[in-house]
Amino acid sequence: MQSKKTFKPCDLVIFGALGDLSTRKLLLCLYQLDRAGLLEPDTKIIGVDQFEGAAELLIDAANTCLDNYLTGTKDTAVWQRFSARMSYVQMDLTQPEAYQQLNQFVDKDKRVMINYFSVPPFLFKNVCQGLQASGVLTAASRMVMEKPIGYDLASSKEINDEVAKVFTGEQVCRIDHYLGKETVLNLLALRFANALFITNWDHNTIDHIQITVAEDLGIEGRWGYYDQTGQMRDMVQNHLLQILTFIAMEPPVSLDAENIHYEKIKVLKDLRPITTQNVRDKTVRGQYTAGNIKGKPVPGYTEEEGANTESKAETFVALRVDIDNWRWAGVPFYMRTGKRMPTKQSEIIIQFKQLPHNIFQDSFVELPANKLKIRLHPDQGVNVEILNKIPGIDEHIKVQQTQLDLSFSEAFKDKHVVDAYERLLLEAMRGHSTLFISREEIEQAWTWIDSIQNAWAEIQDTPKSYPAGSWGPDAAITLLARDGRVWED
Ligand code: BG6
Repeated sequence: MQSKKTFKPCDLVIFGALGDLSTRKLLLCLYQLDRAGLLEPDTKIIGVDQFEGAAELLIDAANTCLDNYLTGTKDTAVWQRFSARMSYVQMDLTQPEAYQQLNQFVDKDKRVMINYFSVPPFLFKNVCQGLQASGVLTAASRMVMEKPIGYDLASSKEINDEVAKVFTGEQVCRIDHYLGKETVLNLLALRFANALFITNWDHNTIDHIQITVAEDLGIEGRWGYYDQTGQMRDMVQNHLLQILTFIAMEPPVSLDAENIHYEKIKVLKDLRPITTQNVRDKTVRGQYTAGNIKGKPVPGYTEEEGANTESKAETFVALRVDIDNWRWAGVPFYMRTGKRMPTKQSEIIIQFKQLPHNIFQDSFVELPANKLKIRLHPDQGVNVEILNKIPGIDEHIKVQQTQLDLSFSEAFKDKHVVDAYERLLLEAMRGHSTLFISREEIEQAWTWIDSIQNAWAEIQDTPKSYPAGSWGPDAAITLLARDGRVWED
């Protein structure tokens, strides 16, 4: 049996500790890590924000966070240990001298400093410069940031350039929380640990691939951010492209960060550009109007509280993506993602090709092709649709479609389902990089997305409306119908 590996304790500094991400996610995930015994005993949590107060302020915020989001009961002993780790620093992040205060809280010799930038990107420069000038950083320190890393290629370069003045590539953890999801990581296991899939994963056997990430939620008070961003930048540039790279990449030599990043970048470089010439055929933008979700009426996007009634932001995108390489030539990837769809549902469908000859004419004039479904949400799992003989004494063998179904909650009953942020926080604290995104990946992704955004602007595309509670505009159905295919609903 492997002995438990120990890691150096950390000074985890959360900039924006009283903000939305921290008080909804990070503090809860840190508590869960502590409960699971995964925080080193001497690890400290230092909250930084603009509000006046001391450690109690952060402890109260963590308490409320657990009250609101913890499923199950709070463990008193864990809570005591967890709250004892916390301190708080009031700071105006735009004031360089303010960062000196951090020297009283961090211990460079004993602990590794992890700086979580949970603040808007316009403050990144201030935080980087303040940290550098204060002398708290060492070569082992890390910084964590997450989307939006820019609004396009140029702005993402600006952010990355600023950060690079202070932190080296290995010190930067760019988070895409989808890379912390169990089912997304399972793509690596499924593909590269099973002969069954490793040899049946290309244009010879696969007809096409569908990726759906649907949410029933709307904008949830995030108007200011979302209306500037839209679904393409909010979801496709990061989460959907990350899923796509995991499905499409070549087998990496190992699970090391360098090898995984290298293979993912190759996929991003091979994405066929979508330009003014083909944007109408390859993309659909939608915006929801009023409708019903699970029987309840909901307002349209431009009727939401604080809405810009003239907004042309898309809340839905469907795309046909082609990858120009040997493996995927002729295999389209169809992706769709939207807000206010009938339900929260994310899945990947690998649609295999039909067999060239059918000896089961009694059962099917055309044999249905195999399908591999990977469910991200709800009920994480993997399902393979196969044809099986119908038991019984018939004159001819008869076949029927059946399912090989693996539900993670059934198969791994005794395992705690780890939240994506728990995993990623731990990876940052342990100094691993595989699950973070490299600068080159982000910039390749933006290059491809920018071309689509520019094409939409040039042809003056406006989003097509779809009623809340539907699967998007009809044009999304036509996108596949043109190729003789249908969405898996
Ligand atoms: C975020 C987007 O990155 O991902 C949100 O900004 C979206 O708009 C969320 O709702 C979806 O994440 P999940 O894990 O609930 O699928």
